[in-house]
Amino acid sequence: MERTLILVKPDGVKRNLVGEVLSRVERKGYSIVALKLMQADRALLVQHYAEHEGKPFFEPLVEFMMSGPIVAVVAEGNRVIEGFRKLAGATDPTIAEPGTIRGDLARDQGTKVVQNLVHGSDSVESAIREIHIFFPEL
Ligand code: RTP
Ligand code: MG
Repeated sequence: MERTLILVKPDGVKRNLVGEVLSRVERKGYSIVALKLMQADRALLVQHYAEHEGKPFFEPLVEFMMSGPIVAVVAEGNRVIEGFRKLAGATDPTIAEPGTIRGDLARDQGTKVVQNLVHGSDSVESAIREIHIFFPEL
């Protein structure tokens, strides 16, 4: 069965939207197979966001992701990677469709990096890599 890594980012935890995000994942029919509240450190985030190293938003992104606790989740189900990306909506919350997590619950905050509540793996290879970073025990 396919698995994906979901992160509720610091903005989502601060706004008490963890239950809302998990609820949407569960109502869609995916299963939560691992879950933890944690404070990510720089080393972990540099590894997780390696593909973005060197981009102008990289440092603000790492700073933002260290600004408070996050919730890391592994969800499972057929085509869950694609399915959760649909639930999350577009990266830019201003243009994310209503009905999606970002479209319903986030907006442009005028910050250096887009704050958009959640992360979801974008391919099978990324999911395997990212799950291993956050849940080495799995
Ligand atoms: P994610 O990885 O968080 O699920 O989001 P994504 O695939 O939709 O977006 P990605 O391109 O992987 O970017 C990762 C995160 O970096 C921030 N970002 N800011 N131009 C910008 O200011 C910009 N581009 C990306 C967002 O927080 C994005 O989710
Ligand atoms: Mg991404």
